[in-house]
Amino acid sequence: MGPLSVPPYTLHITWKELLLTASLLIFWNPLTTAQVTIEAQPTKVSEGKDVLLLVYNLPENLTGYSWYKGQIMDLQHYIAAYTTDTEMIIFGPAYSGRETVYSNASLLIQNVTKNDTGSYTIQITKRGDGTKGVTGHFTLYLEIPKPYISSSNLNPRECTETVILSCDPDTQDVSYLWWINGQNLPISSKLQLSENNRTLSLFGVTKDTAGPYECEMKNPGSSSRSDPVTLNLLYGLDAPTISSSYPYYHPGEVPKLSCLTDSHPLAEHSWLIDRKFQQSAQMFFILQITKTYRGVYVCFMHNSVTGGKIS
Ligand SMILES: *[C@@H]1O[C@H](CO)[C@@H](O)[C@H](O)[C@H]1NC(C)=O
Ligand SMILES: *[C@@H]1O[C@H](CO)[C@@H](O)[C@H](O)[C@H]1NC(C)=O
Ligand SMILES: *[C@@H]1O[C@H](CO)[C@@H](O)[C@H](O)[C@H]1NC(C)=O
Ligand SMILES: *[C@@H]1O[C@H](CO)[C@@H](O)[C@H](O)[C@H]1NC(C)=O
Ligand SMILES: *[C@@H]1O[C@H](CO)[C@@H](O)[C@H](O)[C@H]1NC(C)=O
Repeated sequence: MGPLSVPPYTLHITWKELLLTASLLIFWNPLTTAQVTIEAQPTKVSEGKDVLLLVYNLPENLTGYSWYKGQIMDLQHYIAAYTTDTEMIIFGPAYSGRETVYSNASLLIQNVTKNDTGSYTIQITKRGDGTKGVTGHFTLYLEIPKPYISSSNLNPRECTETVILSCDPDTQDVSYLWWINGQNLPISSKLQLSENNRTLSLFGVTKDTAGPYECEMKNPGSSSRSDPVTLNLLYGLDAPTISSSYPYYHPGEVPKLSCLTDSHPLAEHSWLIDRKFQQSAQMFFILQITKTYRGVYVCFMHNSVTGGKIS
């Protein structure tokens, strides 16, 4: 590599001339190994906050450095350059007005926007060996806000209704992950993810697929998980069973009849005894009993939400 090797792009020549007029020496050498490390402070950056890209392992006797947005070191991507001799900062086309460069090569970005995410490159030039610049790369991600699950229907009827869950807010450049009961989603024809995995369709929710569901948004820099969401299944009425504690009762004992079914929300009960409505309760006590007591007991149930009525 000869000194002052001619850059391969015409744009670079224009760019070099521009810098030379500012008595700045920048050399193009994308092949040099990066020894320099860059760290963000704070490590998690959210929109509207400031972030400092700290540069470590700077070579000694450096003459200057330049920062680029992206990995292409051309004029279009040039944010700012600094020369140690003149202590001068020259801003380029990629400068947004929110960047500050320090003499120790660190770059401060204020009021970070989504546009600031992505890759950054610093090129550092040393005194005495002009062409051997060193470069460092860093990729900036925004901290992911805590997602939440929205449901098209929180109270679906068992087995019949389709529920669409979405992981909100809709965020760019993140991947979505879902959990049910703390586990990965099972492969099932009743569960279907959208193309980007942001929405999950549940066909015919059952007790097993009512959740709790959690979703996570993830990028290489951070990840965040939602609170769990469980669907309140409205299950209909199966025929109730009337049960009595004992098959036989002694005189003086109070027989208890229970009317049970599997319903959510709990059904209202009423008893029809010898063709008369008696009382509304799940249990019924027969107080006056004789040896030859006989009765016809019918239990009615009504589920106010599913509208199921059965006896
Ligand atoms: C830095 O420059 C000084 C004086 O020019 C020289 O003595 C020293 O060896 C240089 N250090 C490195 C690491 O090149
Ligand atoms: C560089 O300078 C900035 C601003 O003075 C400071 O906050 C930062 O800690 C320095 N970076 C390093 C790596 O020392
Ligand atoms: C940050 O940027 C937004 C829009 O880009 C602007 O509305 C807001 O005033 C800025 N805040 C600060 C503290 O500069
Ligand atoms: C972000 O970048 C796009 C395209 O480069 C531009 O149109 C938009 O105005 C930028 N937004 C901000 C807030 O800088
Ligand atoms: C969606 O999730 C599946 C695993 O559930 C994964 O294999 C696939 O890559 C994801 N797709 C996208 C676009 O993230």
